[in-house]
Amino acid sequence: MASLHTLSKSFPGWVFFCCCCCLPLLLTSSLPVKGASPAHHACRLRKINFQQPYIRNRTYTLAKMASASDKDTDNRLIGQQLFVNIRENNRCYMMKRVVELVVKDVLLTEVKNQYPYVEEVAQFLASLTSELSGCQFSGKRDHIEKNLEQMKNKMEQLGENGKTKAIGELDLLFDYMENACTDVPKKGGSKKKN
Ligand SMILES: *[C@@H]1O[C@H](CO)[C@@H](O)[C@H](O)[C@H]1NC(C)=O
Repeated sequence: MASLHTLSKSFPGWVFFCCCCCLPLLLTSSLPVKGASPAHHACRLRKINFQQPYIRNRTYTLAKMASASDKDTDNRLIGQQLFVNIRENNRCYMMKRVVELVVKDVLLTEVKNQYPYVEEVAQFLASLTSELSGCQFSGKRDHIEKNLEQMKNKMEQLGENGKTKAIGELDLLFDYMENACTDVPKKGGSKKKN
């Protein structure tokens, strides 16, 4: 019984391990999608990355806890403003940069001692950005850098609450990343919800 107990206790860990370590292997060994340019292919994540109940729950729970202590409702860090002047095919790259910023400037700072699950969520997000290591922008990077800079400035202006807000918006970050990196972009197709 004891071994069964240990096994079930470590089950979420195994799921996490398998998804982080085996999926990238599967991904890198899969054949390139016909017709897609290498750069475009590198800016894709599999839907299953976002469908793991364990890490999804951790991310959303953490976001809920932090947003409960964020009284400022006027400012938003993760929103459509990130995509102003950004072409559809650069949105995944944009979100990769945003996630990298949030991991480095927020999750890996002292705030990780204020909330539970921060390190798990940071690891998960870092695993996504490392899967996107070959994802590059195409065209001009000016707008990408400008929008990132604006987000960074806003967060800095808000001081400590900027970090709280960023953590409170991790659920949004999760969804934005999923939408930008897993949807197959349609040429001139209908736009999805904002
Ligand atoms: C996360 O899982 C717990 C336990 O299963 C559940 O009570 C909670 O409502 C879930 N939270 C979210 C945000 O899904």
